[in-house]
Amino acid sequence: YRRLRVALLGAGAVGSQVAALLRQHADELADRAGARLELAGIAVRDVDAKRDVDLPRELFTTDAESLIVGSDIVIELMGGIEPARAYLLHAINSGADIVTANKALLATHGPEIFDAADQVGAEVYYEAAAAGAIPIIRPLRDSLAGDRVQRIMGIVNGTTNYILDRMDTEGAEFSDVLADAQRLGYAEADPTADVEGYDAAQKAAILASLAFHTTVPLEAVHREGITSIDKSMMDAARHAGYVIKLLAVCERLVEASGESISVRVYPALVDRKHPLASVHGANNAVFVQAEAAGNLMFYGAGAGGVQTASAVLGDVVSAARRHIAGGVGVGESTLANLPIVPIGRV
Ligand code: NDP
Ligand code: HSE
Repeated sequence: YRRLRVALLGAGAVGSQVAALLRQHADELADRAGARLELAGIAVRDVDAKRDVDLPRELFTTDAESLIVGSDIVIELMGGIEPARAYLLHAINSGADIVTANKALLATHGPEIFDAADQVGAEVYYEAAAAGAIPIIRPLRDSLAGDRVQRIMGIVNGTTNYILDRMDTEGAEFSDVLADAQRLGYAEADPTADVEGYDAAQKAAILASLAFHTTVPLEAVHREGITSIDKSMMDAARHAGYVIKLLAVCERLVEASGESISVRVYPALVDRKHPLASVHGANNAVFVQAEAAGNLMFYGAGAGGVQTASAVLGDVVSAARRHIAGGVGVGESTLANLPIVPIGRV
């Protein structure tokens, strides 16, 4: 197989899992991608920091700029705006395709990043930037490209769903549960982004931009968080047959004067019989209503290091296939040589 140089920026909750899976499944990924994905290095702030998984010390560097040069694929899992933005622009201008889970960056500087990539024929992959492990970017961008999306309604932040769920089911206190969400790797580096609804608003802006084929600026998203929700409100909701969930709603509004878009994130009372009421823990769920397709539902892990790493690695394989196909079209994977199990034994 041809070898592709992969640079990883960040080895936190998600990055460390991506590095581990890249190494652990190297042969299988090579078969799928049609190229060997060689992890050239991992840029971090502190090369001696304790990591979630064991990785060779020599892979680590604090010199992200040098690591990027000569790389075919750059995976950004640092988070935040700067220096992530500068590194991604550097990667694009150095000839790399990029993979990122950074919704904060894409919701604020998406057009700059996408334009830079367009100018040099690079590709930006960001399946992990909304709803963690759930495939939702490609379905909206590709699978539904021939349809007209009317509405998206979902739970798109794992941390707040985890907190609200435990407050509801265990009567737990907000601050205790937030600490658990941080320990489990669900929360952002600054958890204010989660509990004040900024993270959900960023994802809503990304999803609405894809669904409605436009650029929805973050400032246009109405945002309310969950910090004002206390135990008495959860109890009152439960007694009335509801549960409180942080919802993201993206709608196409059709009026006599023309069409417009409404995007909002807010804590809502959800009827306990509604499927969204059954989304527990750090799971997410996204309902998409489209004119021809009707109602579609996407459900799964919305946060967590290894779960999100799945979406990141899917993007890496896509980037590798495109790379070996010369930047046009999609390469073919080699069929895995697995035995076929007779019906009845599955
Ligand atoms: P973490 O905070 O756990 O890890 C961030 C990593 O980036 C660390 O390894 C850190 O280095 C490194 N880093 C940060 N700043 C710099 C810098 N200036 N220079 C070099 N390295 C730097 O983040 P997560 O893994 O949780 O998240 C990564 C990205 O994935 C974010 O954009 C996040 O929004 C997104 N995401 C996260 C999910 C999750 O469940 N955690 C789910 C979906 C998306 P060091 O270790 O040395 O401090
Ligand atoms: N902090 C985010 C969440 C990570 O809790 O949903 C996944 O994007």
